[in-house]
Amino acid sequence: MNRESNGLVSRRSLLQTGAGLLFATALPPFPARAASSDGYRIVAAPARARLVGANQPETDVWAYNGTVPGSLVRLRQGEPARLLVENRLDQDTTVHWHGIRLPNAMDGVPGLTQPPIKPGETFVYTFTPPDAGTFWYHPHANSLEQLGRGLAGAVIVEEREAAAVDRDLLWFVTDWRLNEEGGIASGFGNRMEAGMSGRVGNTVTLNGRVSEAEAVRAGERVRLRLVNGSLARIMALRFEGHRPVIVAIDGQPCDAHEPERGRILLGPAMRVDVMMDMQAEPGRRYGVIDDFYEGLSYQLTQLAYEERRPVREHPLDAPLGLPRNPLPVPDLAAALRQDLTIQGGMMSGMMTGTGGIMGGGMMHGTMKGMGGGPSWAINGMSMTGDGHAGMEPALTFQRGRSIMLVLRNDTAWWHPMHFHGHSLRVLSRNGTPVLHRQWQDTVLIAPKDVVEVAFVADNPGDWMLHCHVIDHQMAGLMTVLRVA
Ligand code: C2O
Ligand code: CU
Ligand code: CU
Repeated sequence: MNRESNGLVSRRSLLQTGAGLLFATALPPFPARAASSDGYRIVAAPARARLVGANQPETDVWAYNGTVPGSLVRLRQGEPARLLVENRLDQDTTVHWHGIRLPNAMDGVPGLTQPPIKPGETFVYTFTPPDAGTFWYHPHANSLEQLGRGLAGAVIVEEREAAAVDRDLLWFVTDWRLNEEGGIASGFGNRMEAGMSGRVGNTVTLNGRVSEAEAVRAGERVRLRLVNGSLARIMALRFEGHRPVIVAIDGQPCDAHEPERGRILLGPAMRVDVMMDMQAEPGRRYGVIDDFYEGLSYQLTQLAYEERRPVREHPLDAPLGLPRNPLPVPDLAAALRQDLTIQGGMMSGMMTGTGGIMGGGMMHGTMKGMGGGPSWAINGMSMTGDGHAGMEPALTFQRGRSIMLVLRNDTAWWHPMHFHGHSLRVLSRNGTPVLHRQWQDTVLIAPKDVVEVAFVADNPGDWMLHCHVIDHQMAGLMTVLRVA
């Protein structure tokens, strides 16, 4: 039932790219839209999904408009959008438009930017996306469970001028923890996991199903939008026999470049857009491998070349890069410098020190003395749970000020640190300048790493900043920044 939304193709990109016309007859039907002239209607409700395969049991999920991932939301850069969200769950929810630089009141954080949407109620989100690119949406209420049960979807904000590609593909990749019966395993908010890697699942789906192969055609150029919608799983994707070129990260176009050692690193909530020329012969197959976790590599899918003549003999020579978005460039010389130190988790100082935040230690694999206390902190402060009333900003920046943040990971774990309302320029890692100084809203930080980022605090309001391993966020890795 979610297949229509998989073979996503931009009609505009076909019309505007002469080269694409050749290919037009081979395209799957234009995806069904939840859109109408007055915008999108998105209903959050229980549903059933066939995640694992045709002969496998269905899974009870929570979904937007009945599918996982939920309806694809397609917006246009610089054009007003209206999205009506209806809550048919039996608990409060909200929708957060991850990565979109929108007005604070539309950010979807309950208690901080809006009242929660109660069961049976609706909320209308309206905003004009300033940036084109690949974004996504998910709840920000009880998000560990709501996201873990399937509430998530992609948002594509179309460029004013579409990129010269034959096909525009979306791979919404996410993992699930399923039990033997194919249901979603219980045990959300396990304290032990919260202090470690978070709830990493056991089943990885691509556009809502375990994927054997994805069809491609010899000679075509595709733009592939990768989204990691997992609660906790980090991915490092390798395309055997292919050389993907990264053209955007977290929706923001960057210098076109090949990934380091051919691996595309995708922390939870991150997006990477790549361009790929399909240069192999019809009929061949190539693995797409995720080998982030040592000893746990698996094949996400295969690129399966159709048995048809190539679309063209030579690769397109159209440029790969995308037009930049209108991001305010921080003035580094005048920037206010602020440290944000990430602390806690298992096997770190906070665990063993007396009077530490957790005041306990690990003994024989069980946590001692946790007593419901937080496991993580930013600058010694733990804000726990999800969006809620009374969240006080830890830092206040004057509007328009350039800010340089030094993100220090003092823990033994990886953290995809996410900033609401702004995109940040990544300047350096462990003192080494980052080659492409790309913009990101979710910055993946390896254990013990120090990352410098900069941005202009130009979007007024109270903005959440948190780790996107949702267990970590719930257990204290969250704070609020105010732009006054
Ligand atoms: Cu993707 Cu605060 O979230
Ligand atoms: Cu966000
Ligand atoms: Cu984390």
